[in-house]
Amino acid sequence: MAELLRLDKYLADLGIGSRSELKLWIRKGKVTINGEVCIKPEAKVSIHSDEICFEGNQLSYVGLVYYMLNKPMGVVSATADNLFETVLDLIEEKQRKDLFPVGRLDKDTEGLLLITNDGELAHQLLSPKKHVDKVYYARVKGMVTEEDKEAFLIGVDIGEDDLTLPAKLNILTYDDISEVELTLHEGRFHQIKRMFEAVDKEVIYLKRLSMGTLILDEKLALGEYRELTQDELNALKKINQ
Ligand code: URA
Repeated sequence: MAELLRLDKYLADLGIGSRSELKLWIRKGKVTINGEVCIKPEAKVSIHSDEICFEGNQLSYVGLVYYMLNKPMGVVSATADNLFETVLDLIEEKQRKDLFPVGRLDKDTEGLLLITNDGELAHQLLSPKKHVDKVYYARVKGMVTEEDKEAFLIGVDIGEDDLTLPAKLNILTYDDISEVELTLHEGRFHQIKRMFEAVDKEVIYLKRLSMGTLILDEKLALGEYRELTQDELNALKKINQ
């Protein structure tokens, strides 16, 4: 990451305000660099050595951050919600206002969710053109069969213009309740639930195990999170090259 940033970008990255608001506030003298008021939005500041204060409060520029969360049920994949706890409420290091979840898991889905402030990486991972693999474990009411496997491989009608893209179904156990692993290359609304509905079955438990190269760390209990390792991050970024 560049060591020197424009003052208005530094503040915008921290979620203090929009670039235009910040330009105004800087010109009004709300910002100090090393104790001196600076009224130039274009002034260059060091993210490591300069002490920046906004309205007297000292700021810390953390740069881009990446957390792997084991999302529990009952929590919504949003940055704010009037009714329910959000995945961001689970992140304690929330000094920044710019964190968001990469994609959505349903409220009753558990498992891997990437939380970051890296809009570029999120865009790449979610881009329909990239077809990033997402692997889920599901418990399904009803006996999942080889026919379902073939249907998912061809694509099923979930009431949209296009069939679902080919998805790989791995049947782990089959009985009144079946256990499966399903690999998707797209992410439509309630997709897995709707795919099983299309073959007259019901998903009763769903957990995301991986997204691209990123695999849920099984040491994380539900609701726990940790920063990605450098290797995990490098591998994720390679997907997009
Ligand atoms: N498919 C679903 O139906 N729900 C999810 O949360 C993810 C994929």
